Amino acid sequence: MEKLKINGGRKLRGETRVQGAKNACLPILAAAALGESCIIHNCPDLTDTHAALKILESLGVCTEFENNTVRTHSCGSLSSCRIPDGLMKEMRSSVMFLGAILSKCKRAEITYPGGCSIGARPIDLHLEAFRKMGAEIEEEGDKIICTIDEIKSAKINLGFPSVGATENIMLLSAVSNAEIEIDNAAAEPEILDLQNFINSMGGNICSGGRKVFIKGVKELGNTEYKIMPDRIAALTYLSGIAACGGMGKLNSVRPEHMVLPLKILERGGSEIECGDDFIIMKAPSRPKSYGKIITLPYPGFPTDAQAIFMAAASRGRGKSSFKENIFENRFRHVSEIRKLGGRIETEGNEAEICGRRRLHGEVLTAKDLRGGAALVVAGLAAKGETIIENIGYIDRGYENIERSFGDFGAEIARVDESYGREIHS
Ligand code: EPZ
Repeated sequence: MEKLKINGGRKLRGETRVQGAKNACLPILAAAALGESCIIHNCPDLTDTHAALKILESLGVCTEFENNTVRTHSCGSLSSCRIPDGLMKEMRSSVMFLGAILSKCKRAEITYPGGCSIGARPIDLHLEAFRKMGAEIEEEGDKIICTIDEIKSAKINLGFPSVGATENIMLLSAVSNAEIEIDNAAAEPEILDLQNFINSMGGNICSGGRKVFIKGVKELGNTEYKIMPDRIAALTYLSGIAACGGMGKLNSVRPEHMVLPLKILERGGSEIECGDDFIIMKAPSRPKSYGKIITLPYPGFPTDAQAIFMAAASRGRGKSSFKENIFENRFRHVSEIRKLGGRIETEGNEAEICGRRRLHGEVLTAKDLRGGAALVVAGLAAKGETIIENIGYIDRGYENIERSFGDFGAEIARVDESYGREIHS
């Protein structure tokens, strides 16, 4: 497995274009199975994107990926109603295809997606909602078999505003004779992107104030659509500039998707200018305290940005604290940042960081996607050489993280897995 080699401790200056949003692309690819021919622009070139395309192909949908544009063509029915076990294991968010397959085939078979390193990640809310919509669900070991005759109208109140459950309900009901109301729905920008994509194919979904209304239609047609920018990738690059000091411009972003995190960067002393599709940030050599950051469903502070902001705070002046309310095991980057000299104490789902001016390079191991990105941010701020192993996690969510940070003048490169063994062994 390749590694990332960073020579850190220098200010960043430059500009980069932000990729399309992974967490919009994946449910939109699932929705493409409901339509006929789709042209989807600004798809990020990620391992997760290609895993989703493999799932579509396994269902009989023809796909192609070229220059961040995906073309899909499904000729009416799907050729299969099951997701191969290997693909389910490769990407747990394959569960997103459940609603689309059940809608098209009236039957769907998947293996339990299982948890991942950040938490158990059950799908009880998805299955409970499907039952309310008329689905029969059998669980045999780690297999889930769903069948449905007629999708029934229902009013579904989600116990937690789950992003995946909200999206799966939309995917199951978009083509139906049913009217669905979701209360306490997730309100992340990626949900609206999925809604707009489905409506661009002839769907009838509207949303607002934590409610989603789906009026099922007879069929969905063709579309040409552009995926929204990735707000978490954008915040990753801004966290790097905050951690190192310097100045940067992000192009192809939607500042309105990250109002609270931008306010927190300003609290840390950065000056931020926003346009319709760009952000310019000027950061002091070290951030001031960010105060207390509490992760919450949107529009609260995004859990996916918790680790990257903690990395920036580890070089801050003074103390910052975090409370992680969304996932139960999302501090796995802490032990790695401590290796660089970061002073972080955790208790349960809370962490307190006492920033320090000097962090030093080390060999680190990525343990999940956003935690891995946080190690890049911290490594850029640490003096000397940092090597990051297990970077396959990072490639699941970032097209080419070293090129993006390289656009800001960072000394970061992908090296062979044998690199550094002699130096750091
Ligand atoms: C989506 O995951 C994102 N992934 C995650 O991004 C993101 O962190 C998360 O939403 C929250 O914003 C994609 O969109 C592909 P949830 P999802 O259902 O849908 C619990 C990244 O790094 N829950 O909102 O799985 C669950 O365990 C990834 O890009 C249930 O208990 O998130 C978690 O604690 C990581 N039962 C909380 O809700 C359920 O049936 C939030 O989960 C479903 C969820």
